[in-house]
Amino acid sequence: MINYKDLGLVNTKEMFKKAMDGGYAVPAYNFNNMEQIQAIITACVETQSPVILQVSSGARKYANQILLKYMAQGAAAMMREMAKEKNLKQIPIALHLDHGDTFELCKSCIESGFSSVMIDGSHHSYEENIALTKKVVDLAHKYDVTVEGELGVLAGIEDDVQAAKSIYTQPEEVIDFVTRTGVDSLAISIGTSHGANKFKPEQCTKNKDGVFVPPELRFDILEEIEKKLPGFSIVLHGSSSVPPEAVKIINSNGGALKDTVGIPEEQLRKAAKSAVCKVNIDSDGRLWMTAMIRKTFTEKPAEFDPRKYLGPAREALIDMYKHKNEHVLGSAEKV
Ligand code: G3H
Ligand code: 13P
Ligand code: ZN
Repeated sequence: MINYKDLGLVNTKEMFKKAMDGGYAVPAYNFNNMEQIQAIITACVETQSPVILQVSSGARKYANQILLKYMAQGAAAMMREMAKEKNLKQIPIALHLDHGDTFELCKSCIESGFSSVMIDGSHHSYEENIALTKKVVDLAHKYDVTVEGELGVLAGIEDDVQAAKSIYTQPEEVIDFVTRTGVDSLAISIGTSHGANKFKPEQCTKNKDGVFVPPELRFDILEEIEKKLPGFSIVLHGSSSVPPEAVKIINSNGGALKDTVGIPEEQLRKAAKSAVCKVNIDSDGRLWMTAMIRKTFTEKPAEFDPRKYLGPAREALIDMYKHKNEHVLGSAEKV
């Protein structure tokens, strides 16, 4: 058993309290490899933002769970060195299991240094979701690990779990769910979805600048939930904005992505000022990384040094994470 405190990490309790009081959201960025974790830490130290490093079960398999734990420990050490060098404050870093689907997976993460876990029982019946979530909470809280639960189902692909349509969270259920499970935060479904294909252009209207705008998130549901659970931390999954610039670079360099529209940043700004304390972003990072790698190969087809194509990808990620912290989530300068 390794406790996350020995790895230089923190749980999400204090982060969320400050985010709630300060009217901003903490970024939760997924990572699978070294370049992504370097970019996240660099951007968050330089913008002085707290951060949640997020690992899906697929990422855990891909990166090797032992290596991953030490990568998070290394990230905390890199953060301390970087902060010292740049004369900046240290930032809080949480290591979070994204979409844990079994008790055993959550237990394994808790025992191997994660400071926070999500148990996603949203695909089970309501009572089964409560029973599973409570079981994880009971174990996690013994080690001061925080737990995120989920009520409602997001459309899109979540690793092995796929849902065709969203099922919005029912505000009538949230008090019962939170009280009976003891979760520290709750992921809700109000119209966001996973992956790069969130909305088709034909589902959108065009604004005066010719930009496609999808139907608004269900802020009415969010408000109802806030009324029922005042001061309780809410989490928004599926919050990538699918930047058209990145899609364009991918498609003009041999890619074949469909026309697609993400969650407008304006709506994320609004959500971040509410009880939403954590915003999950993965696909935007994947898109920028792919865009820069494709671009490099088009411009330099003879290139075969991974540093020469992963380097520019890492730079683009740093810019994107900084932009999210500074201009979307409001988490910059909050440490
Ligand atoms: O919500 C899903 C995350 O984007 C993780 O995706 O399961 O393919 O690693 P993944
Ligand atoms: P995106 O696919 O919109 O980036 O969502 C990521 C997510 O919710 C991870 O849990
Ligand atoms: Zn998610």
